[in-house]
Amino acid sequence: MKVDGVPMRTIWPAGDGPGQGVEIIDQTRLPHRLTTVRLMDIGQAAHAIRAMLVRGAPLIGATAAYGVALEMARDPSDAALAAAVEQLGATRPTAINLMWALERMRAKLARAAPGDRAEIAWAEAAALCDEDVEINQAIGRAALPLIEAIAEAKGGAPVNILTHCNAGWLATVDWGTATAPIYMAHDAGIPLHVWVDETRPRLQGAALTAWELGRHGVPHAVIPDNSGGHLMRRGEVDICFVGTDRTTANGDVCNKIGTYLKALAAADNGVPFYVCLPSPTIDFTLASGDEIPIEERAPEEVTHIPGVTPEGVETTVRITPEGAPARNHGFDVTPARLVTGLATERGLVAATKEALAAAFPERAG
Ligand code: MRU
Repeated sequence: MKVDGVPMRTIWPAGDGPGQGVEIIDQTRLPHRLTTVRLMDIGQAAHAIRAMLVRGAPLIGATAAYGVALEMARDPSDAALAAAVEQLGATRPTAINLMWALERMRAKLARAAPGDRAEIAWAEAAALCDEDVEINQAIGRAALPLIEAIAEAKGGAPVNILTHCNAGWLATVDWGTATAPIYMAHDAGIPLHVWVDETRPRLQGAALTAWELGRHGVPHAVIPDNSGGHLMRRGEVDICFVGTDRTTANGDVCNKIGTYLKALAAADNGVPFYVCLPSPTIDFTLASGDEIPIEERAPEEVTHIPGVTPEGVETTVRITPEGAPARNHGFDVTPARLVTGLATERGLVAATKEALAAAFPERAG
């Protein structure tokens, strides 16, 4: 997408080969600073994922793929390949795109002679990134008619869309999943407005979604996480679009903590609740969302909050009594029955076992 008119991705190779590393946007500095970081080895790639310099299920997978490629340039042996998959696979537990990308790299490289692996890995990581962009564009095309239909029914009044966390281009290589139809509708001249859940505690909505929508000129307002139900009851939300970190074979959707509450409110108020789902995020090996490992992060993410002073100094302050205990579950599961539909690269799909298997038979096995 464009940042102040300049096209940008979240991850890109710094040169023609692994020697010059991989550039990423450091998302821990947004929205206050747009800075890039160069990853030169697998350790730096693993750190970028674990410390959330990169985050969002598809981008985690893309970074892991480049992490393997950087390691293959250093040591293309079978042992190094196995260790790379293990090291990167341990960085974050919930987003299945990580495991998907690592398995794709492992399978491709295991078939190649060690002497060819560096070149093949570099090309495969780039291909995976390009495919992510194509998938997200297809998701956008699949969900765009939903916005168009609401716009027509509202006779030109803005379509109000609610989104949670950041499932925007910053969470992917480009376009985003939940934001792809939003950008397409906005670019087509459809009046719309996005309610951006702030998304405590890491504030991916307030910091990242608001930043990228603003940079692209999409009208939006940041709201506290607990406002969604109120807005839905007042008829001020026409449709919800969220992303997902893992969707199981039965259509249960794991996404950023707080998604479930929005789905409940949407169901109670008859607001369509769509999940934008790239196929690498489907985990056909799990029967239901109950089986998904839910990441629990540091309590300091709850007890402390980052910001910037009027002088432009980035700082973090404590908002709880000193020593107050806190819990920090990163994700929740929205049962399939609360999901109106899944917007995939193969079109709109019902959140059911049968529909998912029919749409992706080669994955369902
Ligand atoms: O903890 P994060 O920031 O990696 O969580 C991101 C989300 O939950 C996104 O909504 C999800 O990955 C979908 S991104 C297209």
